[in-house]
Amino acid sequence: MDPVALLKRRILLVLAALPLAGCAVTHAEVACMPAEEDGACPSVEAAEADMVGDGLCGDEIRTVDGEGTPSGEDTAGTVTSCCYPVTYVDTKPGMECIEGRPLQGARGPVIAGTVTSGSWAQAAAAGPDVAALPTELRARLATAWTAAALAEHASVAAFAKVTLDLLAFAAPAELVSATQAAGADEVRHARRAFALASAYAGAPVAPGPLPLDGFTLGGDLAAFAAATVREGCIGETISALLAAEALAGATDPAVRAALEGIVRDEARHAALAWRTVRWAIQVGGAPVRAAVAGAFADALSGPLYPQAEGLVAGGNAHGRLEVAQAKRVVARAVCELLVPCAAALLAEPAGFGADAGRIAL
Ligand SMILES: [Fe+2]
Ligand SMILES: [Fe+2]
Repeated sequence: MDPVALLKRRILLVLAALPLAGCAVTHAEVACMPAEEDGACPSVEAAEADMVGDGLCGDEIRTVDGEGTPSGEDTAGTVTSCCYPVTYVDTKPGMECIEGRPLQGARGPVIAGTVTSGSWAQAAAAGPDVAALPTELRARLATAWTAAALAEHASVAAFAKVTLDLLAFAAPAELVSATQAAGADEVRHARRAFALASAYAGAPVAPGPLPLDGFTLGGDLAAFAAATVREGCIGETISALLAAEALAGATDPAVRAALEGIVRDEARHAALAWRTVRWAIQVGGAPVRAAVAGAFADALSGPLYPQAEGLVAGGNAHGRLEVAQAKRVVARAVCELLVPCAAALLAEPAGFGADAGRIAL
């Protein structure tokens, strides 16, 4: 089967199946790594040698605390990845992974501030029911939906940059077109999220200027592919799963209407990212494959965390997850989807698609 179709099916299956039992370790204090070639899980000592010191978003693994549990398998039924309970420390408090796919600048995600304006809030038939909300919960929902809206707004810029990159790398029209469509999706997501944020805040909220000072375009295909792994294959896949979990718990009709569209679109964006990376390996060959493998290894060997500002205790009815729920979703995404999908992508035969046309790196 076409590996991209397989990856897409896996992503959609996981989306449709949430919540499922299955991942043996369901909290974020878990880290995963590839299994041995024969499908055995590496020893605790080997896992420690491989993973200690790694991490993402300021979280660093200090110890591996137990045996590995098989967490993914290939189409032949061979175990491809194992997850281990780990102890980590937050070496950079306040530095968290961000939701979705914001534009990445030299110093991290580029996010706009807010202004008081109704220019982005999409007019909806009905807003969320805020009448019965305690004041404090309503304020926290306003903050969380504003953070989500700003992340969606920043994703518009991220896809605009990807479009320019794809053109620079002579990518096929299908990828350019799908990327532009994804950018338009993000405008819609941002508008719906700003509408919700405004309703909870009781005042219009819109994005201010996006700070692009010092921002540069360009780079090589390997770096582009690695960035697409981090921001798209990992970031958008996790976003899609978080949105699906949020939709499962949401009861407010206005919130559900917004999340239904976001869930559908984010699953498509995640699949697009995997398709983009596959194409990059296809035309770029070994250097790109190595960069992709490195990006997956770096990102998936440490705990991944959702954006803290978007999480609200007691916020399920209004589409916001609690910290523990979000961590469970992220851990499952790593164990059951990202590690096996990355293994499948990287296991494609060397030189596949070599006739597709090489480009200068
Ligand atoms: Fe989005
Ligand atoms: Fe997206």
